[in-house]
Amino acid sequence: MNPATWSPSIWHDRPAGQQPDWPDEAALDQAIKQLSALPPLVFAGEARHLTTALGEVSKGNAFLLQAGDCAESFHEFSADNIRDKLRVILQMAVVLTYGAGVPVVKVGRIAGQFAKPRSNATEKIGDLVLPSFRGHMVNDDAPTPEARTPDPQRLVAAYHQSASTLNLVRAFVKGGFADLSQVHIWNQQFVTASAEGRRYEQIASEIDRALRFMRACGIQLADEAALQQVDFWTSHEALLLGYEEALTRRDSLTGDWYDCSAHMVWVGERTRELDGAHVSFLEGVRNPLGVKVGPSATAAEVLELCERLNPDRVPGRLTLITRMGASGVARALPPLLAAVRNSGHPVVWSCDPMHGNTFSSSGGLKTRHFDDVMQEITGFFDAHASEGTWPGGIHVELTGDDVTECLGGAEDISEDQLNLRYTSTCDPRLNARQSLDLAFRVAELLRR
Ligand code: PEP
Ligand code: CO
Repeated sequence: MNPATWSPSIWHDRPAGQQPDWPDEAALDQAIKQLSALPPLVFAGEARHLTTALGEVSKGNAFLLQAGDCAESFHEFSADNIRDKLRVILQMAVVLTYGAGVPVVKVGRIAGQFAKPRSNATEKIGDLVLPSFRGHMVNDDAPTPEARTPDPQRLVAAYHQSASTLNLVRAFVKGGFADLSQVHIWNQQFVTASAEGRRYEQIASEIDRALRFMRACGIQLADEAALQQVDFWTSHEALLLGYEEALTRRDSLTGDWYDCSAHMVWVGERTRELDGAHVSFLEGVRNPLGVKVGPSATAAEVLELCERLNPDRVPGRLTLITRMGASGVARALPPLLAAVRNSGHPVVWSCDPMHGNTFSSSGGLKTRHFDDVMQEITGFFDAHASEGTWPGGIHVELTGDDVTECLGGAEDISEDQLNLRYTSTCDPRLNARQSLDLAFRVAELLRR
């Protein structure tokens, strides 16, 4: 790529996979024009801060926790919903920081995670063949032809929902909710009585004691910003390139292009072709980037992605998010780790233990088993141990709600319980207890 000739519209003459069939081209143009005139959601300087933080992860000095919904929803949009998701991520971060003694870089799949790639363009529901649901940024999940027709005004609605979500997240993490003296209130009622909840309470009490000790020593905790606020970053899959292009702006300080729809954006497993539109778009924006890497990826492909997306070898610029499946990780991951290590490319290696472990339950609901999720994470840590590389992070789909979408875990959710509280419009998410349980287990792997 030549930075002098790159522009946000560069992708138009490349094949772009996974774009909706918008029925009305003029209406799409109108929506994109509207978006182009709206303020950016994030500031380029913030994206640079995140790159620096991820640079520490790539060097083995910190751990990345990237978590949130598979697909954010226009229907489940409320302050409580945002707060509860944030709570469980903050809890997990405390468990990891306290349990393993490493700083945790916190990135949400939030405030923009609205568009979904699909394996099939249509799906059969009863006798109806309908366009697949592609996320609320495109169409609605209800099983009718009207609901499934892509509507470009949804792009604008997703922007506005992202803006108010981000606004509340910023208020929470900078305004006192994330203050370490509040660790107890992050435990939700339905979690408190559980084994994970009690284990968490113990850590919270130890943190309280440490804070009291520091206060007694005369340290002015009110002056310590690091105890009162956290950095929390946003991310989503950069799937709909018209939307991403409209929010890509030139930074007035450096003159560089940034995709100001989120701090970090990633390219999915289905759209990471080297000659495709997504890679040609992402190589020109300076945000920290992620690439999903599935079991079919070859070492040569991964090295080429490193060269294309991080030619200057900037630590923190590129995160490789591997999603090999519990049974594939031991075979597929080590050769990639070795190839990238030998090339000298500074990457963050993160484990997505969700997307390689999805299957349909006997009742037809998409699910994942907690044991498979843990098995993939364990295999990820094992592979890094054997290659001498740093298992830099995890990438998980979760919710703060008490849902029954993933099997197993401490509550041992079974297939016939899945439809009790299954609210995801896309992939099954870990619930708050399963998420906390996972954090304790990852902390143990990190201590190993
Ligand atoms: C996702 O992260 O929701 C997703 C679709 O992942 P992948 O591209 O890895 O399949
Ligand atoms: Co998903």
